[in-house]
Amino acid sequence: MSTEKLETLEAELLQTINAANDIKSLDTIRLSIFGKKGKISLLMKSLSAGDLEAKKKMGQALNKIKHSLQLAHQRRESELKSIELNNRLLKERIDITLPVRPEKNGFVHPISQTIDEIITIFGQMGFTVAEGPDIEDDWHNFTALNIPLDHPARQEHDTFYLSPSRPDDERMVLRTHTSPVQIRSMKNSKPPFKLIVPGRTYRCDHDSTHSPMFHQVEGLLIDKTTHMGHLKGCLIDFCREFFEIDDLPVRFRPSYFPFTEPSAEVDIGCTYNSGEFRIGRGGNWMEILGSGMVNPKVLENCGVDPSQHQGFAFGMGVERLAMLKYGISDLRTFYESDLRWLRHYGFSALNIPTFIREAVQ
Ligand code: DAH
Repeated sequence: MSTEKLETLEAELLQTINAANDIKSLDTIRLSIFGKKGKISLLMKSLSAGDLEAKKKMGQALNKIKHSLQLAHQRRESELKSIELNNRLLKERIDITLPVRPEKNGFVHPISQTIDEIITIFGQMGFTVAEGPDIEDDWHNFTALNIPLDHPARQEHDTFYLSPSRPDDERMVLRTHTSPVQIRSMKNSKPPFKLIVPGRTYRCDHDSTHSPMFHQVEGLLIDKTTHMGHLKGCLIDFCREFFEIDDLPVRFRPSYFPFTEPSAEVDIGCTYNSGEFRIGRGGNWMEILGSGMVNPKVLENCGVDPSQHQGFAFGMGVERLAMLKYGISDLRTFYESDLRWLRHYGFSALNIPTFIREAVQ
């Protein structure tokens, strides 16, 4: 083939390559040029005939053309790929500026709201949030908290046992309180400890003030010189912030918990007046949480030296606090998933609790 003819062929093929408008047709063109029976391959094969000098010249010319066609193919391929990618990006684009579906506003459940409020108040005092498993072993739920196997407090807990066939001290239970997270936190780290533990708890009990699943918030503060005065100050402040009553009367009544010594139940002042109930000043008291100085035996069980460290713990029922603060009379309604109830008792997601509002003003 003459050099001129070769040049015309090259020009033609370059045009064909550049005219390809998708990857698939470009690939067909590639095969028709470089494939086994492609134009360039056939020309290469035809070189075997003819004299040596002519073959050499022709071979060089063909190689040049082949190279330039290959470059053109590569260039067109990457052009087409980026066009296809851009088309896909345009087609698959999600417009995140679209407004949400026109649904009615959702509401925050009073339990979530109450837990958020409790965390906020203790958070302002420097407590951090810890968590633990809902399925506990007997040791963390009872024994380490100074409730040994034969202790009467075990019966009071109406425990759900998960592995009844195991020996008593190896049973798994649905945790009956959040107190085992005290144990886990102390065993996992070193004092000082200043934490609260919101979470689900379980007891085999069901009526208008008890549910088999309910929520508690536990608190633990262990340091070197923490004493009963700190416990009282901390919990009085909490009660007043939570109920948003600056002069709310708070009373500490001696009590008994195996994991604290001494122990105290905390009551707040309230009024029962011809069927009407109000929190605040008045002649009556309402129990709202349990507390005490952590029993040295519990510290020892967690590897904390009671001659060096001491502190207090407390535990409160979230449903009870929510019922008192928001006037909800039946605990079972919390879990009925009745939207009319939620619309009435729920909170706006953007609601700012009063104590925060005051703090930022
Ligand atoms: N764990 C107790 C319960 O479920 C509540 C409690 C009382 C927790 C006193 C404490 C505490 O940490 O000090 O009834």
